Amino acid sequence: MERELLRVEDLSVYYGEVRALEGISLRVFENSAMVVFGSNGSGKSSLLKAIMGLVPYQGKVFFKGKNIDSLETHKRVALGISLATDLKNLFPYMSVEENLLLGAYRRGGRERFEKVYEYFPELFEVRKRRVGELSGGYQRMVSIGRALMSSPELLMIDELSLGLAPKVVERLAQVLLEIRKKEEVSLLLVEQEIYDVSSVVCSHGYVLDLGRLVAQGKVKELLEKDVVRRVYLGIA
Ligand SMILES: Nc1ncnc2c1ncn2[C@@H]1O[C@H](COP(=O)(O)OP(=O)(O)OP(=O)(O)O)[C@@H](O)[C@H]1O
Ligand SMILES: [Mg+2]
Repeated sequence: MERELLRVEDLSVYYGEVRALEGISLRVFENSAMVVFGSNGSGKSSLLKAIMGLVPYQGKVFFKGKNIDSLETHKRVALGISLATDLKNLFPYMSVEENLLLGAYRRGGRERFEKVYEYFPELFEVRKRRVGELSGGYQRMVSIGRALMSSPELLMIDELSLGLAPKVVERLAQVLLEIRKKEEVSLLLVEQEIYDVSSVVCSHGYVLDLGRLVAQGKVKELLEKDVVRRVYLGIA
């Protein structure tokens, strides 16, 4: 039997008058990998931020069967939820190691460095360098590494592939597969493009359009759906 790790029920996010998300319901099971696709401004980051407790929302979020709506972000981290945000949220003037350590807040500790360097040996080589001096691919590794420092059971990644060369994205995807094999962790990714790498990492996906979920199913079959073709390719 599949056990539910995360359940989002009828979630809406508003920024003043701007509706970012409306009536989102989704589930992520234990030991699974799920992706949410959506174009620019469709609400992907808002979804992850709401689950993390970083923006106010209406609706309900459950983690391991427990309602977490009243919990602040650090308490959600302590329960096992972690977000690798986009690269704007790294600290460019701090070293790789200092950035990683910020993720160890409340859960896990210095010993987690070893885990991160095991998955990303290239980060060990540059651990004293400032993050701002590194390439986008390395910065991506730092952001994922930082999210891993708290030993998450749910690892959420905001646009893993954004701005990266396909080779780098493939390498990151391989690491995610390895992490899934070795750790008790589920993944929730959000991505703009419905592309090959996400179907390597994630079997199932949802599609967001203008703040609403319009489709779900096997990633490989999503582009066969009319509604998805309409949203993505402009084909009726
Ligand atoms: N802090 C904010 N204040 C006002 N509006 C916001 C804010 N953050 C996001 N929005 C709006 O909410 C909607 C959803 O934004 P969100 O960042 O969640 O989408 P996204 O799918 O992550 O987009 P992107 O692909 O650009 O990362 C957009 O219309 C955006 O302009
Ligand atoms: Mg975003």
